[in-house]
Amino acid sequence: MLNQNPRDGSASILILLTDGDPTTGETNPVKIQKNVMRAINKKYPLYCLGFGHDVNFEFLEKMSLENSGVARRIYDDTDADRQLKGFYAEVATPLLTNVMLIYEGGANLTQTNFSHYYNGSEIVVAGQITDNNIETFSPRVVAISGNKRGIF
Ligand SMILES: *[C@@H]1O[C@H](CO)[C@@H](O)[C@H](O)[C@H]1NC(C)=O
Ligand SMILES: *[C@@H]1O[C@H](CO)[C@@H](O)[C@H](O)[C@H]1NC(C)=O
Repeated sequence: MLNQNPRDGSASILILLTDGDPTTGETNPVKIQKNVMRAINKKYPLYCLGFGHDVNFEFLEKMSLENSGVARRIYDDTDADRQLKGFYAEVATPLLTNVMLIYEGGANLTQTNFSHYYNGSEIVVAGQITDNNIETFSPRVVAISGNKRGIF
């Protein structure tokens, strides 16, 4: 549906709500993972919300990590609606997409490319300043905001 209805200037995300193991259609988790990755093709982050205690969380976590998202457990015997609202608030406002953090004069950096940046969240990159010299260290963020590419 997302592929067929592209929307300029908006950031699409996928949220999968599931109560456990696959039971109909394709039920092999490894094949599902492959199919999902192929269908998403790095275009949208996938968030998996697993309800209850029986959920195959490792499977959901793998699928999310492979598609730039995260997996969460929602415990349905407590305050599931509050947990859902809390999760939604975290991803409700994507401000930047295709985020690239460039550090001239930096080395041994952790991950520097991120698909989305959400209002109220943070992105952390760790590394070393080459030559221990702040003068030659210049950080830049290149990202898409709305439908314009910007350098911050
Ligand atoms: C980050 O993304 C840019 C543009 O897509 C790419 O050229 C670069 O190799 C990526 N860097 C890493 C560390 O993946
Ligand atoms: C981002 O969050 C802050 C604090 O909640 C809010 O004041 C601001 O309006 C939000 N920005 C956007 C673009 O929604």
